Amino acid sequence: MMISGHLGVNFAGHLTVSGVDTVDIAKEYGTPLYVMDEQTIRENLRSLKEAIDRSCKNGGRVAFASKACSFKEMYRIVASEGCGTDVVSCGEMYTAMQAGMPLDRVYFHGNNKTDADLRYALENGVGRIVVDNFDELRALEAVAAELGKTAAILMRVTPGIDAHTHSFIRTGQIDSKFGFTLETGEVYEAVETALSLPHIDLKGLHCHVASQIFDEEPMIHAAEVMVGVMVEIKNRFGRALSELNLGGGFGIAYTDEDHPKPAHEYMELVGNAVTKTAENNDFPTPFVIVEPGRSIVAAAGLTLYTVGGVKRIPNVRTYVSVDGGMTDNPRYALYQAAYTAVLPEKAAAEPTETVTISGHCCESGDLLQENVPLPAVKRGDLLAFLTTGAYNYSMSSNYNRYPKPAVVMVNDGETRVVVRRETFEDVARNDI
Ligand code: LLP
Repeated sequence: MMISGHLGVNFAGHLTVSGVDTVDIAKEYGTPLYVMDEQTIRENLRSLKEAIDRSCKNGGRVAFASKACSFKEMYRIVASEGCGTDVVSCGEMYTAMQAGMPLDRVYFHGNNKTDADLRYALENGVGRIVVDNFDELRALEAVAAELGKTAAILMRVTPGIDAHTHSFIRTGQIDSKFGFTLETGEVYEAVETALSLPHIDLKGLHCHVASQIFDEEPMIHAAEVMVGVMVEIKNRFGRALSELNLGGGFGIAYTDEDHPKPAHEYMELVGNAVTKTAENNDFPTPFVIVEPGRSIVAAAGLTLYTVGGVKRIPNVRTYVSVDGGMTDNPRYALYQAAYTAVLPEKAAAEPTETVTISGHCCESGDLLQENVPLPAVKRGDLLAFLTTGAYNYSMSSNYNRYPKPAVVMVNDGETRVVVRRETFEDVARNDI
């Protein structure tokens, strides 16, 4: 049942977020609108942190992957839970800093950090730079030397684990733009280089297997492989690295057909694997970092739209157009991503027809979902997409010069705007 947890249906048959009627929210703030539930975000962070504390002998940290949802209030919530964040650009880093996120808890990613990016990160005291390739390692050494600083780094490893077949495959995953390849021995060359560079302080390793993983096996396997690499580094170079960042990827349910384990259960198994593998090898258990994005925010969010035209094409299909689309949620257009749609004013009603939900962009590919069972729907009705908290606002665009929707946070029966709705002036603000 997708309507559960913080989502409910009230006496009027309306969809609610932590008891607050979404119909009232839409009236107050307009549509399209992102709505997020603060307690759900906080609980997701806390349960994961507790799982780390239970399973990782030397502790660890949740570093929210802010690519999933990046705006100041999100960083404030994450920071106030004692967590850190993963950033993949100086724009995300800037936003995190502006929100007061302590920089020492920030992990800076990316497969193409420019010299200017590296300088910005070092000047601002970012906690760890996750080095992706040899060119970057050398560039970072040069920039750090120039600034008279030492760069604390993690090294990104591509361990070659296929998240979907569970196998440690020898070719497929080598083909990645990210990280140093384990299979070819590149990782050990990179470690040797890093250890020889005077302005580089190699703290540990990083890997990220995949996103939206449903089974624990691939990540457990990755944990075992990565601790094995740390043991091998100690054997070869006499250095015991103390940090292991296992990336993100815990899967979540977008529809009733998805049945992932809760992320914290998954985390506990992975943490136990790290501790056990380290102990078996007589290696000090590393400090474990995870970088979940989707599992922290996806279910906390929903998007409210207003239905416009309903176009019925007999024996073909019915298009239900809404006042948003690929501009606020490009995930169907990009990945045919599945979502659950609900009519907030008739949340308990049985479906009577199957429709295609189309966006407002001047483009046939602007669909939000196909084959959606809905109760009778007409112009003016509200329509909600559930689980849109991850990779929706952060991937939104101004295509067709649509202003981006506002983000409203629900907490303790109250609502507040955390990202203002864009205006037409905002859309044209950089035009000369
Ligand atoms: N860490 C690293 C290094 C990553 O590359 C990613 C995701 C994460 C953490 C967070 O993964 P998560 O826990 O959110 O699965 N735009 C796509 C998702 C791209 C994810 C890329 N990296 C989508 O809309 O599904």
